[in-house]
Amino acid sequence: MGNNATIYTETNRLVLRSFCLEDVESFYIYRSNPDIARFQSWDNYQRNQAVTFINEQIESSPNIPGSWLQYAVALKTTNQLIGDCAVHTPIAESDIVEIGFTFASEYQGKGYATEAVKGLLGYLFEIFNKHKVIAYTNVENESSVRLLERVGMRREGHLLQNYKSKGKWVDEYLYAILQQEWVYSLEK
Ligand SMILES: CC(C)(COP(=O)(O)OP(=O)(O)OC[C@H]1O[C@@H](n2cnc3c(N)ncnc32)[C@H](O)[C@@H]1OP(=O)(O)O)[C@@H](O)C(=O)NCCC(=O)NCCS
Repeated sequence: MGNNATIYTETNRLVLRSFCLEDVESFYIYRSNPDIARFQSWDNYQRNQAVTFINEQIESSPNIPGSWLQYAVALKTTNQLIGDCAVHTPIAESDIVEIGFTFASEYQGKGYATEAVKGLLGYLFEIFNKHKVIAYTNVENESSVRLLERVGMRREGHLLQNYKSKGKWVDEYLYAILQQEWVYSLEK
């Protein structure tokens, strides 16, 4: 485990933990990949941005209204960083949180993102008693749409020209799951 990393939750193959300085290289490599950045807010990501970002994350804690926290997703066996899940806790209503996710290309197509997001949903509903979890995705981001549906989130909205991505207005889907839907899916 990296220096002083906090483990937030675990799944069969993965651990969701705080970031540590040992993650900088892996994080920088996947963030600077243009395929990974295609539907994300960043472009041409630089190594110094990764260093600043990870240092900020090391200082951050979960569930602080008004902030985003990035959860590092690592393999249990090696502690290798394979991606991250982000959670936004809004100030106005902190019982409804927004999630996002990014996984390194070489770790896609193996069900890791599904496993991590399911683990994150359980953590948010069971540890923080969140009422609802939402996610926005570009309508053209097919792997993201498939992932959101695989973890049991419902399409609640089709929002036209809702986000300016790299200078161009894009349509988004809003996905959501209520705590009661999560609990019901566990009982089935
Ligand atoms: C969105 C993203 C995280 C999805 O990653 P992913 O690898 O497709 O998702 P998973 O890890 O759950 O893998 C699912 C795929 O692996 C396959 N798979 C293989 N083994 C599996 C297993 N044990 N369990 C589940 N699925 C498995 C599934 O069939 C599925 O393939 P399909 O999508 O072709 O049907 C990834 O594309 C990404 O990081 N994109 C760039 C960042 C981004 O755009 N983020 C979203 C912003 S809203």
